Amino acid sequence: MGRTAGTYTCLVLLVLGFICFTSLYLRYLTSISFMKNLPMATEGAPILITNLDSTLDFRARPAVQTLTSWHAPIIWELMFDPKLYDKRHQEGNTTVALTVFAVGRYLDAYLNTFLTSAEKHFMIGLPVTYYVFTDLPEKVPKFELAPQRDLKVVKVQKNSRWQDISMMRMKTISETIETELEGKFSYLFCFDVDQEFKGRFGSEALGESVALLHAHFYKLPKERFTYDKQPKSKAYMKEGDYYYHAAIFGGSLEKVKALADFCHVSIMEDKMNEVEALWHDESHLNKYFWLNKPSRLLSPEYCWDPIIGDKSDIMVTRLIWEPKQYNMVRTR
Ligand SMILES: *[C@@H]1O[C@H](CO)[C@@H](O)[C@H](O)[C@H]1NC(C)=O
Repeated sequence: MGRTAGTYTCLVLLVLGFICFTSLYLRYLTSISFMKNLPMATEGAPILITNLDSTLDFRARPAVQTLTSWHAPIIWELMFDPKLYDKRHQEGNTTVALTVFAVGRYLDAYLNTFLTSAEKHFMIGLPVTYYVFTDLPEKVPKFELAPQRDLKVVKVQKNSRWQDISMMRMKTISETIETELEGKFSYLFCFDVDQEFKGRFGSEALGESVALLHAHFYKLPKERFTYDKQPKSKAYMKEGDYYYHAAIFGGSLEKVKALADFCHVSIMEDKMNEVEALWHDESHLNKYFWLNKPSRLLSPEYCWDPIIGDKSDIMVTRLIWEPKQYNMVRTR
């Protein structure tokens, strides 16, 4: 009788133990698959700031896509808490560099508006250094910068064709990262100069590798994307994910350098093969982001063209294209 009771107790304990173990193991499996569905944590970034993206509300904007198939967030208004992002980046001592090219008549036409508006809206609360590349350093407007903000002027050669100016940018960016920026900044953003900041362009835009959805293409079917279609060009693409706009790209110094080097080498190879990609550096940038998926996408709220009639998705215009003064800036 005593022995039977002992055996029973033993069996019951074994069964209980098995149930306990199984349920814990199942919970472990579920938590792993849950983590897989979160946006990818970026290697190398401080944990404090990586975790921040788990606070994004991917359901805040039901009319638009907020997550790519590879789990990179697409940043739209209402998805993020601006105060929280700024606070964490300030605590993490995030520093930002911005490059902008103002060559030839682009300087007179756009630089002043670009810089004055950046002082009002770009990464407010974080230390920012502007790097202005120009052939006319003495003509860069002088004005008072806010505390913790700095401006450096770098002299560059003026190429004769605007296509070459825009393509040589990539070489200059790569060299500047190596000689000037490395070790000094957490992130780098590269901007076209013919734009004006109109609203917050803040720390929510920072990430390991950042691409911008082109305002004219984000709603179009993929067949309409203007990728390069010449098999001879390094930018040639049969298919892609999105059509990205080269007016803004950014990320860690390492990732931006990889992009700039890729584009520069591709452009040089194209020159040797006597082919020029359809949209110059933008075609190569699209190829780069097809092969190396960006970790963060910015919605067209971050670079809007006011000429577009359908503004239904645009809750905030943070930056707008300036009217293109092609006649004035592109003829010599
Ligand atoms: C940020 O800088 C402050 C002052 O230099 C320092 O005390 C703090 O540890 C730094 N924080 C991080 C996360 O590096």
